[in-house]
Amino acid sequence: MIHKTLKPFPKDFLWGASTSAYQVEGANLEDGKGPSCQDVKVVPEGTSDLTVCADQYHRYKEDIALMAEMGFKTYRFSIAWTRILPQGTGEVNPKGIEYYNNVINECLKYGIEPLVTMFHFDMPAALDERGSWGNRDSVDWFVNFAKVMFENFGDRVKYWLTINEQNVLTLSGPVIGTLHLPEGCTNELKEIYQQNHHMLVAQAKAMALCHEMLPDAKIGPAPNISLVYPASCKPEDVLAAQNFNAIRNWLYLDMAVYGVYNNIVWSWLEENDATPEFAEGDAEALKNGHPDFIGFNYYNTATCEWSDGSEDLSGASDQQTSKGITGMYKGYRNTHLPTTEFGWEIDPMGFRATIREMYSRYRLPLLVTENGLGAYDTLTEDGKVHDQYRIRYYQDHISQVRLAISDGCEMLGYCPWSAVDLISTHEGMVKRYGFIYVDRDEFDLKTLDRYRKDSFYWYKKVIASNGEDLSD
Ligand code: BG6
Repeated sequence: MIHKTLKPFPKDFLWGASTSAYQVEGANLEDGKGPSCQDVKVVPEGTSDLTVCADQYHRYKEDIALMAEMGFKTYRFSIAWTRILPQGTGEVNPKGIEYYNNVINECLKYGIEPLVTMFHFDMPAALDERGSWGNRDSVDWFVNFAKVMFENFGDRVKYWLTINEQNVLTLSGPVIGTLHLPEGCTNELKEIYQQNHHMLVAQAKAMALCHEMLPDAKIGPAPNISLVYPASCKPEDVLAAQNFNAIRNWLYLDMAVYGVYNNIVWSWLEENDATPEFAEGDAEALKNGHPDFIGFNYYNTATCEWSDGSEDLSGASDQQTSKGITGMYKGYRNTHLPTTEFGWEIDPMGFRATIREMYSRYRLPLLVTENGLGAYDTLTEDGKVHDQYRIRYYQDHISQVRLAISDGCEMLGYCPWSAVDLISTHEGMVKRYGFIYVDRDEFDLKTLDRYRKDSFYWYKKVIASNGEDLSD
């Protein structure tokens, strides 16, 4: 639709940005924090470990002051499970509670709404040893952690996100360093979707608990959603895109919103003898979840074509460049889209298409919890970072959010990735995303001082004009 007039961003639109604990905080074993799976994993060769990151644990005041200077209305950060419960269950660590109280209070001091992710890729190592999400008890572990958070922070935190990118954990666990397969596992697909099932039940129970304990709070999931295009208008390709959309996107949202398994995914699991086992009460718990909004991360779309079942697509695990699943879909390189320096396709229009599709399927307010450009940034001698490419990326993407609003989609906010430079999931410190530059290299920690990038000043202007002024 070509609009004659664009609707404005809502007046209480939540402009902000995101980070996650294990990528930004550092101090990974300080003040009683226990190790998470991220602290014990083998990091990819040539990339930094996660011991110091951007050192936000010691510099949160400075970071939040800079966010306030940009005019943030919200800050999305995650709570490290092992800072609160070092062993995942059992004793609460008072220092951990104190730290997040300080972060929350610091945000509120500036009128910044804390938007808390409850789980961002950092399963306690102690629970990893007990089978992680593969253990049925993981549902109770997570609900207990949720309860501790609601009790301690619920008086001030009004917006909660359950599990960051559950679909990426399921589809690309090895890339993130989170997949836990029991020894001797003979049906990997069944094991992975059993873990996924436990996460779905845990999420639904946490949402219900939130509503019970904190009637004024809002809670939602935060999957990575991006529309899958068919490679052509061949009906076979359209069916392939439906398959991949179901596996990549709708499984997670159909369950979060309606409490049911997506039928295409379920049939595929049935055929592979991989349907998850339901414990008593699961079906009911899944029906009782009810998110208040949908948080979602968007980086790029995917494209695929028909797979006739004869190809060997095994070994495909990276959802960004997915090779496909035999008999379901085959990955296809979309030649209409440019890519980032790290090979990720850039598709602003796909952002609008994704928002429209999601809103028409679920009719819940949408909150962008990630979107952004990973790039090599350079700090000049006079302390500047000229990241025009990032400004351009945001101009293109924020324009599409406005068009989606004009299409009638209800949008709550926009929190790109990331507020501050941090360590990427598997490509180290050199892949920078922040508005705030952190002076460190992959292995040389340097000063860890903060610098305002050009995009910092630009975003400040965008927020001040409530998205009206996107100019350079
Ligand atoms: C999302 C994650 O997948 O994308 C973040 O929620 C991550 O944790 C971000 O950092 C960017 O991905 P990457 O791999 O470039 O760090």
